[in-house]
Amino acid sequence: MRVGQGGSGPGAQAPDGSQVEMYELAEARGEDELIDAAIAPGSSILELGCGTGRITRPLLTRGHEVVAVDESAEMLARVRGAETVQATIGELRLGRRFDVVLMMSYLVNVADDAERLRLLRTCAEHVLPGGSVVIQQQLPSQLARPVVLESEHTRMEISDVEHLPGNKVAATLTHTRDGQSWSQRVLTQNLTEEELSSQLAEVGLRLDEYLTPNTAWVRARPI
Ligand SMILES: C[S@@+](CC[C@H](N)C(=O)[O-])C[C@H]1O[C@@H](n2cnc3c(N)ncnc32)[C@H](O)[C@@H]1O
Repeated sequence: MRVGQGGSGPGAQAPDGSQVEMYELAEARGEDELIDAAIAPGSSILELGCGTGRITRPLLTRGHEVVAVDESAEMLARVRGAETVQATIGELRLGRRFDVVLMMSYLVNVADDAERLRLLRTCAEHVLPGGSVVIQQQLPSQLARPVVLESEHTRMEISDVEHLPGNKVAATLTHTRDGQSWSQRVLTQNLTEEELSSQLAEVGLRLDEYLTPNTAWVRARPI
């Protein structure tokens, strides 16, 4: 388990506490549409932290080529139709570059500056000149307080929220679906635009644009 991350519930868990069975059941919620609209048709995509392929699948269907990376063999075993690589993102060096490097699911909000730099360096090392690094970041409002969010199939409860020094937040996320329940304790760090820009610059990337008005989705490009 990574520091500050832990999970419980039926089935296997990734080292960050993400639940394999829960992600297997989860559908895309428009992420693939957003990504597809921001990149060229038929792009080569390196997807970092792909999980069970929840977003890999629709990106393939949309005609992109995806290399899907995750450190969890149990997650990767569920990915279909893409080349898969089992690796820790910070250590990944494929010796290949892609039109797009995708790092979603708030991985950039890891509450450790050195680890975040390692993740971003991997993004920089795998993107083609003129290509895009597409990042999904957590918004400060997301884990601000306990809340229950219900959709057609799932109930997600955010509880035990702790605001910690350095814009860090710990919280417990409990997903319930089809009578099953999974919990994950997360430790994240909200980033200001200045912090993200300066860490991107350290690895040779620049914040190019926000892909959504709420700033959750970011495009960075090689400097
Ligand atoms: C929250 S899940 C999201 C999966 C997928 N992106 C999605 O949206 O459905 C995060 C995934 O990233 C993987 N992951 C987290 N940190 C990682 C790291 N440092 N290296 C490789 N994989 C990592 C986990 O194993 C997990 O499968």
